[in-house]
This record gives sequence, structure tokens and C-alpha cells, in this order.
Amino acid sequence: MAEKIGRNDPCWCGSGKKYKKCHEAFDEKISYYRSQGHSVPERSIIKTPAQIEKIKESCKVNIAVLDAVAEQIHAGMTTQEIDDIVAAKTKEMGAVPAPLNYEGFPKSVCTSINDVVCHGIPSEKVVLKEGDIVNVDVSTILDGYYSDSSRMFCIGSVSPEKQKLVDVVRECVEKGLEQVKPWGFLGDMGQAVNDHATANGYQVVKEIGGHGVGLEFHEDPWVSYVSKAGEEMLLVPGMIFTIEPMVNMGTHKVKVNEEDGWTVTTADGQPSAQWEIMVLVTETGHEVLCY
Ligand code: MF3
Ligand code: CO
Repeated sequence: MAEKIGRNDPCWCGSGKKYKKCHEAFDEKISYYRSQGHSVPERSIIKTPAQIEKIKESCKVNIAVLDAVAEQIHAGMTTQEIDDIVAAKTKEMGAVPAPLNYEGFPKSVCTSINDVVCHGIPSEKVVLKEGDIVNVDVSTILDGYYSDSSRMFCIGSVSPEKQKLVDVVRECVEKGLEQVKPWGFLGDMGQAVNDHATANGYQVVKEIGGHGVGLEFHEDPWVSYVSKAGEEMLLVPGMIFTIEPMVNMGTHKVKVNEEDGWTVTTADGQPSAQWEIMVLVTETGHEVLCY
């Protein structure tokens, strides 16, 4: 719970204005939604303008790292070489790869090919080949602030089925993004994602979702993409979270590799795709911070 602030005290957002002239009405509005039974954000996940500036700097690094991967990715390279690119570019920009040693993850980036849903571990033994679809999921810590986004790459020419999956998941993210606005609900976004995926015959992974991000790697809220409009957490200006649906061509069911404890694959071996962006809820709508 937030600390009680006097009406004439400086606002918690760091504006320097008195609380009563700054976020008091905002906090009261949130309290009203809470009283109506909605899940609402704690103050700790509502970013101040100063924090948002720092997070945006981290995002610039994350985008540049993904751009570097985009320039160099090709058939015949190993996923370890992708890890090397990520590690080198991140370091060059004065930042640290967030995945490295995160809960024991052994590499700097996740590389997830074809039926790998997420958390694929880069390896010298895994070579990209023509026809593969691969998700490269980059997360960065700059000056203690976190960013996180991922893109799909098609290696050479891929089958029309895989190409469609990749394109539709990108559209899912765009349709979800359109729903992100202050005083809406996270479920508005989730339903838009799920509707577009299922309209195309795909299934959305249920157990693994997105997350708040910025001050920590993974913050509240947990973000589902099989949720319903009007449900899940209230969205307010200053919240930052990821839209990162994992969409499967076949069953939504997934399994975790027992040997490495990380690699998640589809239960039926069919392909899966994911795009991830980081979005800020603004006073008027939203701003994409990272892609
Ligand atoms: N980048 C992933 C996400 O979107 C998290 C990966 S955790 C790791 O949340 F340890 F595998 F890197
Ligand atoms: Co993420």
C-alpha cells in the first residue's frame, strides 16, 4: 500500500507540485476502481517522468541490439553467434544483458526456433537453416533500468504457413496495442490479441505471459493474452508492460525441457511465434518504448 501523503506535501511523482494539485485526484480515481472490485496498480509500478526517461535510455540500447542482430542474422550461423552479437553490442553501449545469470539462465539472449516457444538457449551446436523462424528476445539493464523486446526473423524463404504465423502474431501485437489506454483494462488488450489469433486458427499460450517492466526485469502485472475485455488490471498513465503473446500453429499446450530446465516447446511439435514490445500508458493513450 502507498504511504499516506499530506495534501500540501510534495507529490510522490517528483513533479515538485503539492500533492493536492498533482496526483491526488488520480489516486482517488484508482481507489474508486478498487472499491468497485477491480484489480488496480500499486504505486510502485506507476513510473515517474524521471524514471520513464531512464527506462527509455535502456530501451534505446535494446532496440540497437536487436537492430544489430537483424543486420547480421543469416542461414549457417549458430545461435551462439547471435549471443555473441548481443553480448558485444550491449557492452559497447555501456549496458548489461538482463538474461545472463537471471535465475541461472546461462546466456545473454533467448533464441527460440520453430517449435521452441520461448527461452531457447543459444548454443554452438544449433545452426540456423533456410526455412527456420526464430525469435530473438533481448533484455537490457542500463544504469539499473530494464528494457525487454523481441522480434521474429525468417531465415531465407520460409513456408507460407510459417510466414503467415509470423505475420499474424505481429498483427496480434498491433491489435492489442490499439486497446492500451488510460482507465481501460489489461483484458481489453488480451482479448484483442486472442481474438485475432483464434480468428486465424491459432492458439495462444496460456501459462506464459508478459509483465510489467522498467524498475525490475519482471514486475506486476502478469499479462495474459487469453483474458477478457473489461477484466484484469486497470491501466493508468505511467504503467509500463510488455505485449508479448506466444502463438502456436497447433495446440496451445507447451512443455519445458527437463534437461536444461528452460527451453519451452509446443506439445505437438508445431511452430510457435512471438513478438514483444514494451508499452507505456500515457495520459492520452500509449507510447511504444521498445520493439
Ligand atoms: N525476455 C524474456 C521475457 O520476455 C525473459 C527471459 S528470462 C531468461 O520476459 F532468463 F530466459 F532470459
Ligand atoms: Co518480456
